[in-house]
Amino acid sequence: MMKKRLIACGVCLWTAFCMLEARNEKPAVYKDAKAPTEKRVEDLLLRMTMEEKVLQLSQYVAGRNTNANNIGEEVKNIPAEIGALLYYSTSPRLRNNIQKKAMEESRLGIPVLFGHDVIHGFRTVYPISIAQACSWNPALVEKACAMAAKEARLAGLDWTFSPMIDVARDPRWGRVSEGYGEDPYTNGVFAVASVKGYQGNNLADGEHIAACLKHYIGYGASEAGRDYVYTEISPQTLWDTYMLPYEMGVKAGAATLMSGFHDISGVPASANHYTMREVLKGRWRHDGFVVSDWGSIVQLISQGAAEDLKEASEKAIMAGVDMDMMSRGYDKYLKELVGEGKVPMEIVDDAVRRILRLKFRLGLFENPYIRETTEKERFLQPEDIKIAEKLAEESFVLLKNKEKRLPLAADTKVAVIGPLGKNRWNLLGSWTAHGKDGDVVGIYDGLKLELKDPSQLLYAKGCDFDGKDESGFAEAVATAGKADVILLCLGEKRNWSGENASRASIALPKIQEKLAMELKKTGKPIVLILSNGRPLELCRLEPVCDAIVEIWQPGIAGGKPLAGILTGRINPSGKLPITFPYATGQIPIYYNRRQSARPHQGKYQDLTIEPLYEFGHGLSYTTFEYGDLKASATQLKRGDKLSVEVAVTNTGDRDGAETVHWFITDPYSTITRPVKELKYFEKQTIRAGETRTFRFEVDLLRDLGFIDGDGKRFLEKGTYYVQVKDKKVKLELID
Ligand code: NOJ
Repeated sequence: MMKKRLIACGVCLWTAFCMLEARNEKPAVYKDAKAPTEKRVEDLLLRMTMEEKVLQLSQYVAGRNTNANNIGEEVKNIPAEIGALLYYSTSPRLRNNIQKKAMEESRLGIPVLFGHDVIHGFRTVYPISIAQACSWNPALVEKACAMAAKEARLAGLDWTFSPMIDVARDPRWGRVSEGYGEDPYTNGVFAVASVKGYQGNNLADGEHIAACLKHYIGYGASEAGRDYVYTEISPQTLWDTYMLPYEMGVKAGAATLMSGFHDISGVPASANHYTMREVLKGRWRHDGFVVSDWGSIVQLISQGAAEDLKEASEKAIMAGVDMDMMSRGYDKYLKELVGEGKVPMEIVDDAVRRILRLKFRLGLFENPYIRETTEKERFLQPEDIKIAEKLAEESFVLLKNKEKRLPLAADTKVAVIGPLGKNRWNLLGSWTAHGKDGDVVGIYDGLKLELKDPSQLLYAKGCDFDGKDESGFAEAVATAGKADVILLCLGEKRNWSGENASRASIALPKIQEKLAMELKKTGKPIVLILSNGRPLELCRLEPVCDAIVEIWQPGIAGGKPLAGILTGRINPSGKLPITFPYATGQIPIYYNRRQSARPHQGKYQDLTIEPLYEFGHGLSYTTFEYGDLKASATQLKRGDKLSVEVAVTNTGDRDGAETVHWFITDPYSTITRPVKELKYFEKQTIRAGETRTFRFEVDLLRDLGFIDGDGKRFLEKGTYYVQVKDKKVKLELID
């Protein structure tokens, strides 16, 4: 009897509790900003229907139609329960209207996540990533990313599809412009810098956005430099070359990753259980989410990995792709797949959890709307332009300076010639988000501001980027004849690199080379300014030029620092993070190749095997002398501490910045190692006549050790070398 009464009492209490809940008298835990994130996630997940979960895992697009009159139409077409949108607009109002629908018209009021490709700036466009790496200044890159995050968040974004950290060794591939070069560690360091810059310390502070490491993993190995194709990556290469930047980015707290389009040795990146579920989510315990690339789930069908969209969706979610970008497979088939027992409910719940977690971390439940500021308030702030300018300055690389042709003497008359001389649009580079050419200070513009006497500056276009029209040559030659020096501005259009922009030859089009040859005949010195998104084949141009400055695609603020370098106001300090082949036929060519069985043979019969400019190359207006390397110990045991130092003296007569690259060589080991591997770098400004010490704190396991084809790290006894330029110190690990 007593027991029955107790049960009845319990039931009554429970009913009362549920009624209170239903009447919303006690706020749901997920709505309580003070509750721990994980509790909020679990609470919300428990309330969600299958349909609501599936939509959380889907990403559509919005904001492409910029006509203000169509805002209503656009909002109508977006489901209130959608998880994320690829948001093309910069209108805070459109974003707020869409968000209002999600908050007020969906049953649970889950905010939408707005994402976009903010790759090298949002409106204040700064240099492309390959150029940023030339600065060897991660702190500056972090600042630039923070500024991009602020502009983006004020414009309505919560999430960027950046950084791209695909190690790339084939400059025919257009996307080399989007990453940080050929070296794993370099990509890793800039991954960390970008993640810190985008995300800051608090994603909910209204100034930061979630980062996305992409394209997980090995996309840079695209065969023959073509986009979207097969990649042949052995397990050893996967770990040696591609994993490190992702591991570093994940450890730095990257909120999301994007799975690639490509096939990794038979298992496409977007269906790869090993890389996503086992390594990323299992071993690295990443608690954020993986979004597919645009349509990379439906494309599993073209790749021959799935028979239809339903199977593709099953493979993708099982492998660990949490959000479907534009394949429309999850919203169509996930419910069915769960019903048929092909996809366990826990897998769906795990994916939903990851997405909700980020929304809570971004503070979207508390602050779903953004302030409707004016463009003037949110973009192109003077302090931001300064950052873009500084990064451009540090990313420029003085490739050649024969007989100190640069800097130019004060009264030099300069003939700016070439398709890039007055062109602004192409300096922006690919993925410029909302950059405008009207914001750009171009090459000619920068010189105009720098040179005191306007009569020092002449201009002729000479020719276009490509084509056969030589009708401008005569004017170019005549203009050159009136000047003391030719500033020849050649390079690539911005859409010649980036996604789906491969080139079979990395030489500049013949018309540009021909213009250079015609100008050479004038006998005037030629300073070549190059703007491009990939290393170029310069073997014909290099001999006719006295000096070469690589400015890549510097964004809006390249003109002034370039003028500063030309006149000597600024001392260049950039160094290459990627090899410049002598000719296209040498590709792939990169510094950290593995050792050869016959190092003195195996050459080409018809081409040198030496690159034109090697990894780390970059000149200064001053000179630096390196002392010998000093190791704190040369006989070591596991667990010992080791530091190696080098003194660098500025032996010239002006201040300059120098980057020291520290390499490790392991001449003999169970699994063969590359000829050398970058393990650390540091940049310091050194005054004229001053000596500064650079120090590398070596972690024996991390820096001398190596990994096998499943990521297991080893440290073997034997000989190692620490190397800086041509200086080496020999180490023995005796135990
Ligand atoms: C495809 C590109 O591969 C990827 O990098 C980009 O983030 C998405 N499209 C979204 O624009």
